[in-house]
Amino acid sequence: MSTTKNPMQFALLSRILHWLMAALLITMLFIGVSMVAHLGDYHWLLSVHRPLGILILILAAIRLITRLLTKAPALPPSMSQPERLVVKLSEFALYALFIALPLVGWAMLSAGHFPIVMFGTVNLPPILPAKPELYATLRETHTILAYLLFLAFLAHFGAVLFHTLILRDGILSRMVPWTVRSAKSESRS
Ligand code: HEM
Ligand code: HEM
Repeated sequence: MSTTKNPMQFALLSRILHWLMAALLITMLFIGVSMVAHLGDYHWLLSVHRPLGILILILAAIRLITRLLTKAPALPPSMSQPERLVVKLSEFALYALFIALPLVGWAMLSAGHFPIVMFGTVNLPPILPAKPELYATLRETHTILAYLLFLAFLAHFGAVLFHTLILRDGILSRMVPWTVRSAKSESRS
């Protein structure tokens, strides 16, 4: 199934979710670091961090389903087989990280027996039994995954800049929210 009329671009919903989630994820990395480095009101930052993280998890699920149900545009013909593999692996890593991070955040608060407050009196149920040693491991995992996400984002951003400014193969047009028409109409799964 394909929800896009233009096979040179990702499905419209994928493109909208890409930019919305990019803004949310970068904001969340800054909120997380500001929280632990006491760069702002800790409790206020945490009260924003939890629901935003769960919103990212919901959007990630919608994005994964959309990505599986729609066809991604073909990669530029100039791209070698090893480069194509790197693209697939890096996309997979980004998806894995933005799904795992909020799940680990939720699991870690569950293991620490903390309330998982969304807003007002609305709390999420714990997804793990309370276990202090598990909390310690998951707390560390949350930090490591957050750093990995930041590194993966830097590599992704660098690759997109390189393709857009140096190779000029029009890769950015595949993800812009508006419709871009092109003669090439090959598609990859
Ligand atoms: C994609 C979503 C998320 C991102 C990018 C993210 C990012 C971060 C970062 C960068 C830190 C600071 C880590 C450090 O330097 O040690 C952090 C801490 C934390 N995050 Fe997340 N997080 C996400 C989702 C969540 C969720 C869903 C929850 C809970 C429902 C959560 C709860 C926490 C808590 C409790 C802390 C530690 C606060 C402390 O120890 O003082 N996070 N997060
Ligand atoms: C703000 C800077 C960003 C720019 C300029 C950018 C640009 C792009 C472009 C042009 C593509 C299409 C690549 C292709 O044709 O395969 C893409 C795909 C992708 N981007 Fe980004 N991106 C940015 C930030 C992010 C962030 C923060 C994330 C997540 C952490 C992310 C995750 C992805 C993923 C997973 C794909 C694969 C396509 C999909 O299934 O959604 N991007 N990005």
